[in-house]
Amino acid sequence: MRTQYCGEVTESLIDQEVTVCGWVHRRRDHGGVIFIDLRDREGLLQVVYDPDIEDAFATAESVRSEYVLQVKGLVRYRPEGTKNEKLATGQVEVLGKELTILNKADTPPFMLDVADGEVSEDLRLKYRYIDLRREPMQKRLKMRSDVSRILRNYLDNNGFMDIETPMLTKATPEGARDYLVPSRTHENSFFALPQSPQLFKQLLMMSGMDRYYQIVRCFRDEDLRADRQPEFTQLDIETSFLDEEQIMSMTEDMMREVFAKTLNVELPNPFPRMPYDEAISRFGSDKPDMRISMELVDIADLLQDIEFKVFSGPAKDKKGRVAAMRLPQGSKLSRKDIDGYTNFVGIYGAKGLAYIKVNELAKGIEGLQSPILKFLPDEAVMAIIERTGAEDGDLIFFGADKAKIVNEALGALRVKLAEDLELMQGEWAPLWVVDFPMFEWDEGGKRWHALHHPFTSPKESDLELLESDPGNCYSRAYDMVLNGMELGGGSMRIYREAVQKKVFKALGINAEEAEEKFGFLLDALKYGCPPHGGIAFGLDRLVMLLSGATSIRDVMAFPKTQSASCLLTQAPSAVSEAQLRELHIKLRKPTVVKDS
Ligand code: AMO
Ligand code: AMP
Repeated sequence: MRTQYCGEVTESLIDQEVTVCGWVHRRRDHGGVIFIDLRDREGLLQVVYDPDIEDAFATAESVRSEYVLQVKGLVRYRPEGTKNEKLATGQVEVLGKELTILNKADTPPFMLDVADGEVSEDLRLKYRYIDLRREPMQKRLKMRSDVSRILRNYLDNNGFMDIETPMLTKATPEGARDYLVPSRTHENSFFALPQSPQLFKQLLMMSGMDRYYQIVRCFRDEDLRADRQPEFTQLDIETSFLDEEQIMSMTEDMMREVFAKTLNVELPNPFPRMPYDEAISRFGSDKPDMRISMELVDIADLLQDIEFKVFSGPAKDKKGRVAAMRLPQGSKLSRKDIDGYTNFVGIYGAKGLAYIKVNELAKGIEGLQSPILKFLPDEAVMAIIERTGAEDGDLIFFGADKAKIVNEALGALRVKLAEDLELMQGEWAPLWVVDFPMFEWDEGGKRWHALHHPFTSPKESDLELLESDPGNCYSRAYDMVLNGMELGGGSMRIYREAVQKKVFKALGINAEEAEEKFGFLLDALKYGCPPHGGIAFGLDRLVMLLSGATSIRDVMAFPKTQSASCLLTQAPSAVSEAQLRELHIKLRKPTVVKDS
């Protein structure tokens, strides 16, 4: 039907006849001449119809936006003064000889040359097939396809096998709720959609596959955010007989290749590394954005014995934290700005946001400005100034509460301030976070839960602590962080049955439950399991960062809304009574759907 893509018709085709197909991006009548900008995947092409070719001209007069056309014509230079340097096809135009309307189109619900934010996202999602015609969406999906190919090539060249794992399976705990699928053939039984292929990829190592990868859909029923979707794609990797050093070194090399090939950006070699404890202590986060220089500084020791309970309480509490964060040149913040940031940290549970403005240090305490100065002894204030390294014009923020709240509140404030005040330095800041604790105490459930997943190996030196002091037991896990986003996470796995049993026990999973949920894994560990480890990267997140998209939905063809529904197909939806009966399901609050 065509000889070229619209976007490929350039000077090299001058005086040649071409046939192109595409959508009417714009149609303009110019005193007897009709211009049609025809659009396809590769770009726009200007087509001109003169009245002397009567048939084609008449048809051209009838076309509307988004009609699908086939155009035959002659490539010629555009007249001087009408060339468009921004378009690949901007030097030329096609003088239309023939015109076939392949299909008509209703007026689209929104214009196609709008930027992402100019149309409501609900409308874009409902008419996603039209939204995807827009250039920014086309570019991002093209980039996604490129990234997948680069990743596959890299792994193929390094001896990895692409192996598929089941979608209808048993729950694998990755910390989210499962999506369940009822079984027709097994009454009262359910499959779970995989939160990740974690156990299958470990079993593949036990099967001797040695190096596995898969670009695979994962399902997690969790609260959605700008970087989270209920179904998303992982680049999932597992290897045998490699240790964490080798896995980290290989996968960061893979990332360097992706950045070099897609953006022509050279990422550092090697990526810097930071222990988890240090990341939390300095940045309040296990995925610190290293483009931001602000840090949290502990000051509890200076404030334990003061009257001001807001500070001395958490300073004396073993689970508390009192931290200061210096904002360079922050004293220019207005009262209103600070109130705004106080509300912001409130989202994370902070009860307030104390601050000191450093106006003129030469004047000592007199040169400072703050509502809390009257509560603090002068020596403590001066010691804080010294410890934070504050200078004239700076502002110091304070957080005092349970450590978790202070870390989350100041950690998020750090990023927010950097965004608002444009304090990011450099463009790309990858980081490996290593030395994670094995467990985190769950205050609500009164039990330990795995910080990664229950198959992550403890450090060999900490094996004893599994029983005696789980809170101080560290794991062989590692996360790849880029610009404050967790891009991937992985670990060396447990490959000895006894250790796996101990970890289940530490997690409060008794022998019976372990057998019922993970019996197949415990069995497999008995039959010759190699030492193995791996990692999984969020492909959507990677493409989001590479393409500069602000939402994960903008790098997925058909994403779900914040409430995990699809506005295009109206899924999820009710099903018929007959289907339910087959699945042995009776609804608690039935909605009636007629049997078809
Ligand atoms: P983890 O749970 O860290 O590890 O997931 C790996 C990566 O997947 C991405 N990701 C998501 N992306 C979009 N939406 C979501 N809801 C979502 N959840 C996770 C993140 C994350 O870093 N089986 C282990 C990996 C392993 O140990 O090898 C796992 O799934 O980028
Ligand atoms: P108050 O005595 O509660 O009015 O608090 C005095 C100052 O301390 C105000 O600026 C509050 O914003 C701040 N503040 C209160 N609670 C905290 C907290 N947990 N962490 C940091 N600052 C706080």
